[in-house]
Amino acid sequence: MPLKSFYITTPIYYVNDRPHLGHAYTSLACDVLARFKRQDGYAVKFLTGTDEHGQKVEKSAQKAGISPLAFADRTSGQFKALAQLMQLSNDDFIRTTEARHMRAAQSLWQRMQERGHIYLGSYAGWYAVRDEAYYQESELIGGKAPTGAEVEWVEEPSYFFNLSQWQEKLLAWYRNNPDCIAPASRRNEVMRFVEGGLKDLSISRTTFTWGIPVPGDPEHIMYVWLDALANYLSGLGYPEQTEEYRQFWPPSLHIMGKDILRFHAVYWPAFLMAAELPLPKRIFAHGWWTVEGEKMSKSLGNAVFAEDLVARYGLDQTRWFLLREVPFGQDGNFAREAAYARINSDLANNIGNLVQRTLSLVHKNCGGLMPAANPAVFEAELQAHCYRRTEILRGLMDAQQFHLVCEEIVQMANAANLYIDRMAPWALKKTDPKKMANVLNVLVEVIRCLAIKISSLMPNSSSKILDMLNIAAHQRDLDSLSPSCGIAEGAALREPVPVFPRLSDSDAANAGG
Ligand code: MSP
Repeated sequence: MPLKSFYITTPIYYVNDRPHLGHAYTSLACDVLARFKRQDGYAVKFLTGTDEHGQKVEKSAQKAGISPLAFADRTSGQFKALAQLMQLSNDDFIRTTEARHMRAAQSLWQRMQERGHIYLGSYAGWYAVRDEAYYQESELIGGKAPTGAEVEWVEEPSYFFNLSQWQEKLLAWYRNNPDCIAPASRRNEVMRFVEGGLKDLSISRTTFTWGIPVPGDPEHIMYVWLDALANYLSGLGYPEQTEEYRQFWPPSLHIMGKDILRFHAVYWPAFLMAAELPLPKRIFAHGWWTVEGEKMSKSLGNAVFAEDLVARYGLDQTRWFLLREVPFGQDGNFAREAAYARINSDLANNIGNLVQRTLSLVHKNCGGLMPAANPAVFEAELQAHCYRRTEILRGLMDAQQFHLVCEEIVQMANAANLYIDRMAPWALKKTDPKKMANVLNVLVEVIRCLAIKISSLMPNSSSKILDMLNIAAHQRDLDSLSPSCGIAEGAALREPVPVFPRLSDSDAANAGG
């Protein structure tokens, strides 16, 4: 068993909505990290799934004229299809309607209750079904939730969690673990919120039935957020002390959008403290995508769907654009023109061109065999890109700075393209064939390392390039970013096939629509 473990989760997605770009984005970020950590020798558990209970789903099912479960089956299937389309490498897919989840959620409840943190009372206040969240009167703006969601008055018997008792402990956790919530600006927001005081939280409902029964009092069903957050435990087989649970708990990283940070950074650690379970190591909230400057929404009808992007640009191109375009943690705007320009400049013109020119020359001038090396011509900058800068890559991944990871790759390809232009190996065949071989040898090595480095970002293209170089499967990990793993002189390389075809002018013309 590898010594290092990494447990990463996406939020579980509500099944009332067809998956769109926003969902694909959260999952993509997790996929990149899961793949990167596997490539770096970690045992990885990558969990995603669907959040199927609650009033919102019940209402959507009613509208569709089918049972909530049939409704959930349908949309959950769409999220599974999205995972396939995006080639997400999730190890499991949890649905909150599964027995294994219900058991875990009930067990979490019981642990909190046994320790005296749950009491029966009655709730009277505002509830927004769209957000599945309670709001104080003072938070409402023009009679609506601060998110713009409609609110309704709810008055019913309810179990409460004594959240107010956890204020100091939460603040101490944030202070003692400066990296537990990121980005730092979000951590500050969460701290200000908790410093403002916490009220006990209503954690059960009695006026509808689509949920998990409260242990010992099935008239009540659990508040959907308590139910949903427990998925991170159920995905490991909790409450059974499974091998997976022992290996992977607590989570290394929960990734989610900024809209649901409070649930993850306040309620969730408080629940876990109350249950005396170890807390997640890090919680990262990313920003929101707008579309051509506008909020993406069902009512505006402007939602962007991953399947359309993949069909138009290709999967790896789409993954690259989403990761590269916007600093992870900030809001971003999706514009087709920008996607088109970005894909052509970074992928077709830079990386693709480097691979194509180099391997074509090796075939044309060296019989398709790995040219002979002369380390003397391996300039320091290129060498650093191949080997030494792996640590920088690790650091950027651990900080979830995907746009800088992409930037690092672009710099590497830029440096190699400048080198090829400066050395003009095509002109050396007659004048200095030995030097030409040196230059091509260096370039093939740069391409090998670059392909290894893009593997978590663009897995298909990485494989395509490494296949052209005949690199064995076990030599595609981060440890192979070493001169000792370089391709032997005289080894056969395959004919180049285009990796990132240039999007044509007609694609550009269509880009507006
Ligand atoms: N079911 C809850 C999560 C429970 S986790 C214990 C939920 N689901 S959701 O389907 O509404 O949203 C899931 C994720 O999609 C969130 O991380 C959210 O931020 C993300 N996005 C939804 N729309 C988005 C954009 N327009 N842009 C970026 N991400 C957005 O909340």
